[in-house]
Amino acid sequence: MNHTFAQYQQSAEDIRARIGDFAPKVAMILGSGLGFLGDVVENPIAVPYRDIIHFKASTAPGHKGQLVFGALQGQNVAVMQGRMHHYEGYSYEEVSYAVRVLRLLGCDTLIVTNAAGCVNTQWKAGDLMLICDQIKFFMESPLRGENIPEFGVRFPDASHLYTPALRELARTAAGELGIPLREGVYMYFPGPQYETPAEIRAARVLGADAVGMSTAPEVIAAGHCGMQVLGFTLLSNMAAGILDQPLSEQEVLDAAESCKDKFSQLVLACLSKLG
Ligand code: HPA
Repeated sequence: MNHTFAQYQQSAEDIRARIGDFAPKVAMILGSGLGFLGDVVENPIAVPYRDIIHFKASTAPGHKGQLVFGALQGQNVAVMQGRMHHYEGYSYEEVSYAVRVLRLLGCDTLIVTNAAGCVNTQWKAGDLMLICDQIKFFMESPLRGENIPEFGVRFPDASHLYTPALRELARTAAGELGIPLREGVYMYFPGPQYETPAEIRAARVLGADAVGMSTAPEVIAAGHCGMQVLGFTLLSNMAAGILDQPLSEQEVLDAAESCKDKFSQLVLACLSKLG
């Protein structure tokens, strides 16, 4: 069963009681390797998920499971240290629950990052990609069930889920920093098994440049409730079947660790450019 609007409001009120009059503007969901940005937030107020009514705890290893409110690059942010994934057993509505709560708290922008497999054979592991669009076939939408009109319409437009103006801002930031930035389409797979080589060939035919197990549900929910979205992918490994080697979580974590400086610089530069 989906949550009711009243439950979303209760979660928001629960957080409000802890953050007082702090007004978050930018919600950030940081994937593998970038969670440390939550630790450099100024004047932080950390709220563990388990302390928030109706929130689910995130079980993924290396995820702290808390929201950190405070200032980053002069912006009032709400950083999710740890995200929910469908493969952990959560419904898509639960996966995107926090985004809607942060919207109720005043966030109008969402920055999402993830690590993903690289489908585009012209590119290489370690490259950064600006997400221009996404494909989420075959899976349920986080909006399935009775629509909550306080968040948005029943049939929301999804032509520009990743806000064009923010993509332009990211290009500018990357150019100024001299960080090469790919641009492409992120395709969602539910995991937790990595894809088969045949699935990767199919994804390529369908127009994907990257494949991953997160992000798409939260971005659909964010678009539904009128948030601007900026998304980045660290291409942590070549997707299945491209190289003659098995995929492993260690490869993903190693790539995230070795790219975290350029990745965090880019995200921070984008933050400071937000109006
Ligand atoms: N596939 C799906 N998710 C991923 C991958 C991958 O190759 N790499 C990192 N996350």
